[in-house]
Amino acid sequence: MSRRPGETTLFLREFWEKFETTGSIAPSTRYLARAITRHLRRRGPAPIRVLDCGPGTGVFTEQIVEHLRPGDTLDMVEINGCFIRVLQKRFAAEPRWQAISDFVNIYELPFQNFAAPAPYDFIVSSLPHSNFPPAVVAEILHSYTRLLKPGGVLSYYEYLYLRQIRTTLARGTRRDRIRSVAQLMLSHMSEHRVTHESILMNVPPARVHHLTAPADRVGRNGSLLERARSA
Ligand SMILES: C[S@@+](CC[C@H](N)C(=O)[O-])C[C@H]1O[C@@H](n2cnc3c(N)ncnc32)[C@H](O)[C@@H]1O
Repeated sequence: MSRRPGETTLFLREFWEKFETTGSIAPSTRYLARAITRHLRRRGPAPIRVLDCGPGTGVFTEQIVEHLRPGDTLDMVEINGCFIRVLQKRFAAEPRWQAISDFVNIYELPFQNFAAPAPYDFIVSSLPHSNFPPAVVAEILHSYTRLLKPGGVLSYYEYLYLRQIRTTLARGTRRDRIRSVAQLMLSHMSEHRVTHESILMNVPPARVHHLTAPADRVGRNGSLLERARSA
């Protein structure tokens, strides 16, 4: 589970200072990175559009750049300026990253405010959904739906058992918030074909969800998302 030491320290610091958005004390492992990019790594010959949402120090990006070719697009949306600077340095310094830097765009803003120029074939998201208020999660889920092409794949992860542990320990409005977020996530999943995989070689161990958008998408639970967005 080798990690780049400076980036691990940065992560720990950002976790301390911005717990809600950083969501983890350390970057993900390459095992999780390989799992979350599984569909993208099986891409066909046609050009693809990829969105890396919450790339942090670029652990998932490392896998993504290996599978991109001229004609593809990689957009990255990251809220934290410290992580953006790490990514910019990597695109300037690392040969494989440099090779594709012409068709990469890095945006520093909250994903829910991102107005993408066109939808994506693959969205890889690291956003710590369970840390956010339901209205923000609803915005994020709405953006995933809007930005994923029909037949496209959205892959994200959550830490194994963390939600269940937090629900058990939390009380009052905190518990209500966690339950509402879980309900929104399940509702959004139900609009897709979904597969899952558990990755134990990560700290903490994680569960990856791959959601494939139907070819003829019809939003069945828009009202639930709309209610949460306007709450
Ligand atoms: C758990 S970290 C994962 C980072 C990296 N992908 C990894 O696996 O090591 C979550 C990342 O999402 C970013 N993030 C959190 N909320 C965000 C938002 N609303 N929009 C964009 N990025 C966000 C954080 O700054 C952080 O880089």
